[in-house]
Amino acid sequence: MTRTLLALLFCLAFLSSCTKEQPKLSLQQLDIVRLQQSWLKVEVLSDSMIVPWDLETDSQGFLWVAEQEGKVSRINLSTAEKKVMLVISDVWQQRTSGLLGMAVHPDFANNPFVYLNYTVKKDSLISSRLFRYKLDKDSLTDPILLLEIEGGTSHNGSRLAFGPDGKLYWATGDTHDFTYAQNSEKLNGKILRMNPDGSIPSDNPDPGSLVWAKGFRNMQGLTFSDSGLLYTSEHGDAIEDEVNLIIAGGNYGWPIIEGMHDLDPEKVFAGENQTIEPIRSWTPVIAPAGIAFYGEKTIPEWTNTLLLTTLKGKSLRILQLSQDGKTILDEEILFENHYGRLRDVTVGPKGEIYLSTSNKDWNPQPGFPLPGDDKILKISLTDQVVPSPLEASKPAEPLILNGEQLYLNYCASCHKANGTGLSEVFPTLAGSTLVKGNVKPLIQLVLKGKNQMPAFGFLSNREAAEILTYIRQNWGNKASEITSPQVEENR
Ligand code: HEC
Repeated sequence: MTRTLLALLFCLAFLSSCTKEQPKLSLQQLDIVRLQQSWLKVEVLSDSMIVPWDLETDSQGFLWVAEQEGKVSRINLSTAEKKVMLVISDVWQQRTSGLLGMAVHPDFANNPFVYLNYTVKKDSLISSRLFRYKLDKDSLTDPILLLEIEGGTSHNGSRLAFGPDGKLYWATGDTHDFTYAQNSEKLNGKILRMNPDGSIPSDNPDPGSLVWAKGFRNMQGLTFSDSGLLYTSEHGDAIEDEVNLIIAGGNYGWPIIEGMHDLDPEKVFAGENQTIEPIRSWTPVIAPAGIAFYGEKTIPEWTNTLLLTTLKGKSLRILQLSQDGKTILDEEILFENHYGRLRDVTVGPKGEIYLSTSNKDWNPQPGFPLPGDDKILKISLTDQVVPSPLEASKPAEPLILNGEQLYLNYCASCHKANGTGLSEVFPTLAGSTLVKGNVKPLIQLVLKGKNQMPAFGFLSNREAAEILTYIRQNWGNKASEITSPQVEENR
């Protein structure tokens, strides 16, 4: 019996179940996107907003939207009905200040709290305030000021996110002061970690301080992966926009270091301060903004990626992560110049994705805003197939991965990140005489494979040389470098 017939019989037997069915949500459709296998549709969930800076879903089926001017709305995801929940009157909005970061409590049913950060200006004094509001029926009430830090005319950040540890993280800007990011006494240019009531957790790196990590300029994105890794996106100065993987107590180098540790003074500072390199940097800059980890299986091509909206780049970047989440292996660009500046991204309860445009902000681009801007866009799977869909492209300069990144990508699933392998199954590479020995048999084994060891002949000479040098010079191995010409010779 076909499925439709079954459904019809079910309907007839329980008439009420057919009539009570909710009307199907019908939204204005803008585009169809083709990935390798999946097809996606882009629809307008909501329009006519003004710079929706932050999007958050709660556990009750709502999308929360914070607009930079000071308005907070809640959209029912099954009906698209929108309600204004709060208008904050003392927001100081100019260029990049205003109502910025927002987070909803992860256990929203029992703790109906919404956290908001915004800029205020009293006389000539600018500050950045973090409030906790409570949901009461159809509005946000009872604001409690959790923290107030120095603000500035620019570089106020900011993003908020809850970690899997139940703590609240706040990515603050350096307010354009070059001394703050490295000064541990200052709360600017930091990632702060606090209890949901604003108090200092006893297990912070310095138990008397909210500082979780330092050395930041102006972060615009903050997200946790399913395994609890914390990523940020950050605006560089004229060069070197960044995505960072944050560790407790880490120093990310600003303002002495910009992006990768590639200049001599940067290397000196990095050596003295154990600073951490970004996992991706961009020059020319793209102005990265909201970032969201995508761990869902719904859109399989995007499982285990970071979704990154960009302002200057006017695109969504899809950053494929390695299995352990510590490196970015690939990058794709979608919607370039199509919807304009994109401010934030978040993942919905069914694995769908929401994006906000930012075409009414301080830096409007030629050709924008489009009618109906600013919009909240919904991206979800579709059965529709069209002859000329939108497609992703690759960045002009392909990612060049180093030996460690290539090893993690191709070898670590069997030989493990630390080279120890798996007893009786995958040999250890640490201390292996084959790894440390003659060049020829090693190159041939890796390129041609052996028994359960796959052949890696598809690697370029450079890639193979990088990986082989990496395994010969790590985990206590101290053998000579292998060069591209050597790989070429022994293929
Ligand atoms: C699917 C699992 C798997 C992957 C992925 C894999 N290997 Fe292996 N590797 C093996 C197995 C199994 C052996 C043992 C082969 C044999 O001798 O039967 C092996 C053996 C080796 C050896 C020989 C070690 C010794 O002391 O005998 C080297 C070197 C090596 N692999 C390097 C690599 C490198 C480099 C990569 C990534 C480019 C890689 N392997 C990826 C499974 C894997």
